[in-house]
Amino acid sequence: MSDLIPTLEHLRSIGAAQQPTYPDAAAVGRVVAELRRRPPLVFAGEADALKSRLAEASAGRAFLLQAGDCAETFSNVRAASIRDTLRVQLSMAMVLQYAAQVPVVKVGRIAGQYAKPRSSDTETRDDVTLPSYRGDAVNGLAFTPEDRVHDPKRLVEVYNMSAATLNLVRAFVQGGFADLRSLHSWNSAFVRNSNVEARYEALSAEIERALAFMVACGVDDEAFHTIDFYASHEALLMEYEQALTRIDSRTGLPYGTSGHMLWIGERTRQLDGAHIDLLRRLRNPLGLKVGPKAAPEDVVALADALDADHEPGRLTVIARMGAGKVRDALPAIIEGVEASGHEVVWVCDPMHGNTFSTSNGFKTRAFDQVLEEVNGFFDVHEQLGTWPGGIHIELTGSDVTECVGGVDDLAEQDLSNRYETACDPRLNRNQSLELAFYVAERLNNDRIKRGSNPVQAFEAVELA
Ligand code: PEP
Ligand code: CO
Repeated sequence: MSDLIPTLEHLRSIGAAQQPTYPDAAAVGRVVAELRRRPPLVFAGEADALKSRLAEASAGRAFLLQAGDCAETFSNVRAASIRDTLRVQLSMAMVLQYAAQVPVVKVGRIAGQYAKPRSSDTETRDDVTLPSYRGDAVNGLAFTPEDRVHDPKRLVEVYNMSAATLNLVRAFVQGGFADLRSLHSWNSAFVRNSNVEARYEALSAEIERALAFMVACGVDDEAFHTIDFYASHEALLMEYEQALTRIDSRTGLPYGTSGHMLWIGERTRQLDGAHIDLLRRLRNPLGLKVGPKAAPEDVVALADALDADHEPGRLTVIARMGAGKVRDALPAIIEGVEASGHEVVWVCDPMHGNTFSTSNGFKTRAFDQVLEEVNGFFDVHEQLGTWPGGIHIELTGSDVTECVGGVDDLAEQDLSNRYETACDPRLNRNQSLELAFYVAERLNNDRIKRGSNPVQAFEAVELA
């Protein structure tokens, strides 16, 4: 193996947080050997292309929409589910792109998002205590001793499921599914009478007219036919990520080939830990989750480690502060990192700092709090004169009832109707689109107030 790739022994020796405890070391060895024989899931050149797009977002000329499941599950790798998630994300991107007039970089939490860090190693129900569910990559969701055993063979299944998902996603986005002229039909099954639906209809009709006009003027039809869509997940499990780290034959450099963009979670970003040690060596674009307790100097040290070459687009800092904390905690972090010279993409995750449990036992998030964190994020950037580069959302394409509030005004007692997530509560289709309209408005208003439109500025340069 190349000495550009750290060995598993090395990574284990420095210690990695949140790892499974496998009962059978020989079985782990067999799985890792099997994964090493498999072809890469993504191509290094695609990761580079995403990095260039993210560089645009770091410079204020594009906006990142990173979204998808909290935890993908093997049983949900179905065409309808993948299609619906893609639809809602592409609809949001359309709203942002056309309503806010900003190019949108589309990245899914998809095709690899199978491993979860947990705050507790065990879960107790009545008087039974079992290992916590750590995602389908590690164990099963059912509350039985057999399911909760950590099983390395699941890593091969993660590879297979991710390959199948990526294959369908690539077919959808390149094969005409994402054709902008079929926007209307994407959401034809929307809950009637919601004002989100009316706004969406009006916007898609407007876009369709504009596209028809462009085609009539001779613009290449193909331009509307395909889109770029990238896959990302939390790079949590050392065995899986290390086995899929490969040397790119073009450049001789190591890339994580389990997804285009890999991120490090709030619980695994120890500066001297194995996650940082592995990911800093990869050439992919990286994400770093940062919570309200992060000291600005720690985030700067992490940026120094992960973006040693000061490469625009290399690092995306995903702030997940909580609605009540973002205004206090975020400014010093932004100021510290900006002063250090790293050109990062600043992204708001308004989900993970706003989770609470209802009295009837559901883990949920309130749509108003999600909006409030987004608001705080935009306010902070407006005050500092920095660019709010994107949002990171847990969502699904179906009409689940997991987060309270939003257009349909879901109440706590509605949560039991369709609570389907394997881990954190996700925005449903209507809530997701409502959020997109809201973010589009903020992007527009802030630009007007600041008097600079990065998109127009960009076009002006292109025309000159
Ligand atoms: C997640 O993104 O699902 C997650 C666990 O986030 P965080 O690391 O920010 O808690
Ligand atoms: Co989550």
